[in-house]
Amino acid sequence: MLFKQQALLRQKLFVLGSLAIGSLLYLVARVGSLDRLQPLCPIDGRFGTRAQDEIPLRALQFKRGLLHEFRKGNATKEQIRLHNLVQQLPKAIIIGVRKGGTRALLEMLNLHPAVVKASQEIHFFDNDENYAKGIEWYRKKMPFSYPHQITIEKSPAYFITEEVPERIYKMNSSIKLLIIVREPTTRAISDYTQVLEGKERKNKTYYKFEKLAIDPNTCEVNTKYKAVRTSIYTKHLERWLKYFPIEQFHIVDGDRLITEPLPELQLVEKFLNLPPRISQYNLYFNATRGFYCLRFNIVFNKCLAGSKGRIHPEVDTSVITKLRKFFHPFNQKFYQITGRTFNWP
Ligand code: A3P
Repeated sequence: MLFKQQALLRQKLFVLGSLAIGSLLYLVARVGSLDRLQPLCPIDGRFGTRAQDEIPLRALQFKRGLLHEFRKGNATKEQIRLHNLVQQLPKAIIIGVRKGGTRALLEMLNLHPAVVKASQEIHFFDNDENYAKGIEWYRKKMPFSYPHQITIEKSPAYFITEEVPERIYKMNSSIKLLIIVREPTTRAISDYTQVLEGKERKNKTYYKFEKLAIDPNTCEVNTKYKAVRTSIYTKHLERWLKYFPIEQFHIVDGDRLITEPLPELQLVEKFLNLPPRISQYNLYFNATRGFYCLRFNIVFNKCLAGSKGRIHPEVDTSVITKLRKFFHPFNQKFYQITGRTFNWP
């Protein structure tokens, strides 16, 4: 009898012990992953480091918890006040370039605990109707964030729209501007592919890329074609430089962001004076998608939508050669102005 009771007790102790060790291991793994994902966030008003502003680990959970609820409109005004959440104007804007990888860049920067993204393209500065609604309207479009965090929005149309540099300058003359570029001919084909897909969805026919990109009368590159004009990066940048010094811009290599995102993101962290927090842990290559995807923590990861990373139609090689030759001098000027050289042909 006594022996049976002792055996039962030993069994109970074993089960309790296993449960305690299991919970301990889980907690260690959880805190470890949180720490990797959302470490302390010492950012000051101009993105510098200020130790007293460190967010306690407990609060960091709100980056994906409470803030997420706010975005979904599930939080009360009391919670907003209690957690000191605010809707801040952006401290940095991804102004372009369309099809350069603007969505990937925004989503990847949002991995940083001190960054909060405006999910939608707001089109405040390029759309006269929106602009007329005023800066408070724009601010109200921004997500809730902690005062330490910086808000980033992206609207790629800003880069090519005439009025935008002056309007942004009037809002904040010291704002940081991000431009993500890809090899200009590839970008133009990507631009075309997006429009083509839109037409196909509406059961409409569309011209071949070659027909749009080359003027049939002169057999030269058709500079009236928007996809071509957008890829003349230097022309657009020169307009921006009338308002902002080159130091306020950071050029992201969109081709490298596809193949090797981390070093590009680290350069952006530096430019924004953010402590380096995005790590290889946050980025994993998804062979099915053929792209890097995002890992926020052990349970939450995501790839970009299927509309990012379309298969491009085949384009006549002579047209590609002609376009590359056309873009070449503009690219040289772009390298010269920005101080960043790419291996574009
Ligand atoms: P393609 O569709 O031509 O491949 P944007 O967001 O500015 O519209 O840019 C879209 C481009 O982002 C895509 O162009 C794709 O190549 C690129 N991109 C970069 N990183 C990506 C990623 N991790 N997942 C999906 N697309 C990515």
